[in-house]
Amino acid sequence: MLSSTTYYDHIARNYNCHMTESDNETRKKVIEIFKANISNGNILDFGGGTGLDLPALLSDHYKVFFLEPSSNMRAIAIKSVSVSPGRPVFVEEKLDFRQWSDNILPFTDKMNGVLANFAVLNCIPDIDILFERLPLICDTHCYVQATVIDTRPVKMIKSHSLKVAAKTLFNKQLITRNYFNGVAQDTYLHTLQKYKSAAAKYFDFVSYNSIQNSNFAMLILSRNEIAYKKTSL
Ligand SMILES: C[S@@+](CC[C@H](N)C(=O)[O-])C[C@H]1O[C@@H](n2cnc3c(N)ncnc32)[C@H](O)[C@@H]1O
Repeated sequence: MLSSTTYYDHIARNYNCHMTESDNETRKKVIEIFKANISNGNILDFGGGTGLDLPALLSDHYKVFFLEPSSNMRAIAIKSVSVSPGRPVFVEEKLDFRQWSDNILPFTDKMNGVLANFAVLNCIPDIDILFERLPLICDTHCYVQATVIDTRPVKMIKSHSLKVAAKTLFNKQLITRNYFNGVAQDTYLHTLQKYKSAAAKYFDFVSYNSIQNSNFAMLILSRNEIAYKKTSL
């Protein structure tokens, strides 16, 4: 078993060519919604991978920050925008949110929007810690949009076994093993209830909706103003 970063380092070269037509459609929808909800300011492409969302995000309206722990994935992203007019801030240090504190942060700017596209949160076992640390880089009302594996039983029955689907019904922690080019990593199938409880202290839940023709759901949260005031005093 490989850590998520080692796994993505290993598969980086092949990542883009495994995107299907339906993935491309999903990506288009996700970005449309993100842009409709956050029209300007600082945005973070969290777990940005090989930078597939960068062309759509780089615009005059945003200052784009890009955080990707796998150096091989990040190298492809950096190369992909080498001739683009706009350039994101590629985060190279303090990449692990678990190390973040008031004094240890990957950048000093506060984000107005965070995008975690294509199952980034499903690579992370400890999402309670993620939602506890994420506010440290968020501005008030920061908008968070994550494309996550849809774990509602009706979806799970279609994509997994009945046994797996039943477990999500009882909100059990579910881990599946994901294979790509002969290497494996664990995928954490967090339930909607789990996202809600992990984020509740710092973020308001906005929505969780299936993305048509995909196995993904779109989770949307917004930085809770009261919690923001408490932590920024
Ligand atoms: C399926 S890829 C998605 C990449 C990209 N967002 C996309 O839309 O193509 C999942 C990404 O999450 C990243 N990731 C895994 N653990 C992470 C963590 N703790 N913090 C940030 N990113 C992480 C991986 O390195 C990988 O690039």
